[in-house]
Amino acid sequence: MSEPLGHDTVRIVEVGPRDGLQNEKTIVPAATKIALIDRLSAAGHRSVEATSFVSPKWIPQLADAADVYAGIQKHEGVDYPVLVPNLQGYERALAVGVREVAVFTAASEAFNRKNINASIDESIERFAPILERAHNDGVKVRGYVSTVLGCPYQGDVDLRDVVRVAKRIHALGCYEVSLGDTIGIGTPAKARAMLRAVAGEVPMGALAVHFHDTRGQALANVFACVEAGVRVVDASVAGLGGCPYANGATGNVASEDVVYMLHGMGFATGIDLDALVATGQWISAELGRDNGAKLGRALAPIACA
Ligand code: HMG
Ligand code: MG
Repeated sequence: MSEPLGHDTVRIVEVGPRDGLQNEKTIVPAATKIALIDRLSAAGHRSVEATSFVSPKWIPQLADAADVYAGIQKHEGVDYPVLVPNLQGYERALAVGVREVAVFTAASEAFNRKNINASIDESIERFAPILERAHNDGVKVRGYVSTVLGCPYQGDVDLRDVVRVAKRIHALGCYEVSLGDTIGIGTPAKARAMLRAVAGEVPMGALAVHFHDTRGQALANVFACVEAGVRVVDASVAGLGGCPYANGATGNVASEDVVYMLHGMGFATGIDLDALVATGQWISAELGRDNGAKLGRALAPIACA
């Protein structure tokens, strides 16, 4: 289990293997997913979101969740959360020894319906038995609130809805609530205002931020929120990702770029940046896609003509 953070430490929750690979067009072999997770933990990540135990009909890319989880090296002091949408997912996860799960809902009704075929209230009702079971099983539960700065279907999202949903899932027992700008629509001042509004009801120490980089604002949003006091940042190696139920949404802010910025600000992350950059370059080559991390490109070997 992770140690408490010092005031000059930021914990990165690496979401590439889940948020990234759930959105790849081709199915990535389980062995590649396992190698990615092992490389990320070896690079010093303390939280690596490994996969999702969701319906394989909805997300076929992660149908191999059990094999992937069973195959990864479990390092002492590293958490490997997995997404679960319902009790069925929780039981599948528990069967392979998962010690941390993440439940997910949204601040927008329209998005939630498309993503998990449930209203916000229905989704939270599904979480209650998961949290109860997890409490008895000694399993940690993280919670996500999506569409905190805008929704691909309903447009603007009322800040009061974000605060209300975050407060409810924290009160239910999620030890940490990650605030997701699913479609990367926010800008720094709005992101900071959103964080501060939620922090009025949920302790800042129990909040994380999760920015997709669709409009190139994610790193600036992370900066604004870290300055406002958040100390947990979700990020995706090589900027992998998107959301299958948010058309056009691109990956999360790249872990490499976040770690580089945070180290430059004087924060410790425990992450070996060279190893992380090498991992981003490796997975980009494996997937045959451009590296979404600026740092990955800046440090790529230069091919001289
Ligand atoms: P549904 O179709 O309403 O579910 O989907 P259902 O309960 O009616 O079940 C339908 C079938 O799915 C049944 O099988 C169930 O057994 C099966 P059948 O009888 O037809 O053969 N099923 C399952 N199978 C395996 N594992 C399960 C499971 N549950 C049901 N856990 C459901 C509802 C929630 C299941 C579905 O909508 C779903 O899985 N959605 C997941 C969508 C998803 O993963 N989205 C991406 C993650 S969220 C995200 O990326 C945002 C985030 O990054 C933050 C941000 O960026 O904002 C976290
Ligand atoms: Mg996401």
